[in-house]
Amino acid sequence: TVVDTKQTYLAVLESRNKSFGEYVVRCMNKFGVCVIDDFLGETKGSEIFQEVKNIQKLGLFKRGQLVNSSTTGGPTNSTKPIRGDFIHWIDGSEKYSKNIKLLVSTMDAVILHCAGQLGQYNINGRTKAMVACYPGNSSGYVRHVDNPNGDGRCVTCIYYLNKNWNGKADGGLLQIFPENQNRMASIEPKFDRLLFFWSDRRNPHEVQPCIRTRYAITIWYYDEDERERAVKRFKADKTSMSLFPEHGKPSPLMSDQCS
Ligand code: OGA
Ligand code: OGA
Ligand code: MN
Repeated sequence: TVVDTKQTYLAVLESRNKSFGEYVVRCMNKFGVCVIDDFLGETKGSEIFQEVKNIQKLGLFKRGQLVNSSTTGGPTNSTKPIRGDFIHWIDGSEKYSKNIKLLVSTMDAVILHCAGQLGQYNINGRTKAMVACYPGNSSGYVRHVDNPNGDGRCVTCIYYLNKNWNGKADGGLLQIFPENQNRMASIEPKFDRLLFFWSDRRNPHEVQPCIRTRYAITIWYYDEDERERAVKRFKADKTSMSLFPEHGKPSPLMSDQCS
């Protein structure tokens, strides 16, 4: 029957997310970085890409916030702009982002399968989704740390949307320089690729100049205790809160992805 078919389908998706979760736990605890290719498949990935192109057509992209270097862990008096991306935040209620919402709920489902196994973290929420576009004008994002000062974010999760990306010709590689290691990870922003890494000082990273337009969707997961402590600090010092307006209200994880 139709119901049985739907349930079988959901069971298959759930077991896929569970295996992804197990893989993420192994990679993250070993390397602090984890790449999953072919995360949602050609069809779903293309639908998400169309939504992102539509966000661009609607004129919703705004310049990425130029947070100061005390919050990025980056260099202090550089003349290079820190970041050249344009961003738009999605909370899942938008009519134009049904597929992005499905992406985020699938990321959540994978993270929920990692419960209690990602370092010592207790992940209980996340930011909204940041849709980012680097116009192909040599824009990038200088070396930085997402969360150098304990704002609560523990895992960065990025989904890339770029078909036929050629790192040599198109630039835009994400380079991660794991702390205390003489290795570097060079990650191409390939279509349907999902990336996880620890958001703290263990993973300084940069986006190399993009020659071609580059699209990605990022969410950050919160550790419950660290976020609670950060919110207390932010409340005592309101000026620092305003640096992360979009991070103010954590969103709960979505566990029922197809309802
Ligand atoms: C970040 C971040 C906030 C913003 O890139 O880590 O917090 O508004 N960005 O761009
Ligand atoms: C960021 C960032 C990396 C990427 O937005 O903080 O580092 O590969 N993005 O888009
Ligand atoms: Mn970053």
